[in-house]
Amino acid sequence: MRILVTGAGGQLGRALPAALSGHEVTALPHGRLDVADAPAVDAALAAEHPQVVINAAAYNEVDRAEAEPDAAFRGNALGPRVLAEATAARGIALVHVSTDYVFDGEADAPYLESSPTAPRSVYGRSKRAGEEAVIAANPRHFVVRTAWLYALDGRNFPNTMRRLAERGGVRVVDDQRGSPTYVPHLAAALASLVGSGDFGLHHAAGRGEATWYELTRALFAGLGLDVTVEPVTTDAFPRPAPRPRYSVLGTERRPARLLPPWQDGLAEYVRAAQEAA
Ligand SMILES: NC(=O)c1ccc[n+]([C@@H]2O[C@H](COP(=O)([O-])OP(=O)(O)OC[C@H]3O[C@@H](n4cnc5c(N)ncnc54)[C@H](OP(=O)(O)O)[C@@H]3O)[C@@H](O)[C@H]2O)c1
Repeated sequence: MRILVTGAGGQLGRALPAALSGHEVTALPHGRLDVADAPAVDAALAAEHPQVVINAAAYNEVDRAEAEPDAAFRGNALGPRVLAEATAARGIALVHVSTDYVFDGEADAPYLESSPTAPRSVYGRSKRAGEEAVIAANPRHFVVRTAWLYALDGRNFPNTMRRLAERGGVRVVDDQRGSPTYVPHLAAALASLVGSGDFGLHHAAGRGEATWYELTRALFAGLGLDVTVEPVTTDAFPRPAPRPRYSVLGTERRPARLLPPWQDGLAEYVRAAQEAA
């Protein structure tokens, strides 16, 4: 298939071409395509005539979004709407990636695709608006919610923890629970979804659940780092944007599409980090 990837310079965007080997992939980073620029999107579709677009572009600054909602909504709501309308007009399928932060975090069992959304932050509201726009404009959509993404080469939590560990012990939040997701596992899941015709809303995140503290303990154990990890509550690190207390993603769609357990993703990340060292 001919596949166009937008936001190709981000963590997920960089991983997609390898996962899509066997397809003809054009990967456009932000500098080459602004997804909120309707004429530019139209021109890109006319030039590349893809059968599928995978939107890995997003405004991802969860805290900064509280102070600049216009920028967040431009990237996370207007961009997806422009893509959805342009792809629908040409009969192109659209894979759009969303987030666990569309939920309020008050549940105590995994959120399913049919669970009601109630985002608590500007980022979460902007991502929910993007989901709604895609669902409304293009019937050939895959809206894929994921969570707690990390890859070896991105700005992400495990990379931050490794950096902090060089300076000594770390204090880590132990009262937010989610689904850590290794980017190559998500990229592989998206690759299997594109040809499936299984349109609609999907949850795709590392199977199981952990707190940031538990993730850090597992990371340091895997890396053989003897660093003290102190569990703290969310109150210890006041942030502009509220985080869901519990945002574990489950699925009521095909269980076969579930990602591997988050521990497997972390083990792959650790192996990749050790090879790169
Ligand atoms: N990271 C997480 O923990 C997490 C969790 C749940 C869901 N998600 C979702 O997963 C997807 C992938 O996230 P990621 O971690 O790969 O994000 P990322 O590393 O921040 O990459 C996002 C990319 O989108 C680009 N971008 C921003 N606005 C754009 C626009 N208007 N047009 C085109 N490109 C634009 C950014 O470019 P610039 O840097 O130049 O702005 C960046 O290269 C996103 O939909 C995100 O919301 C992420």
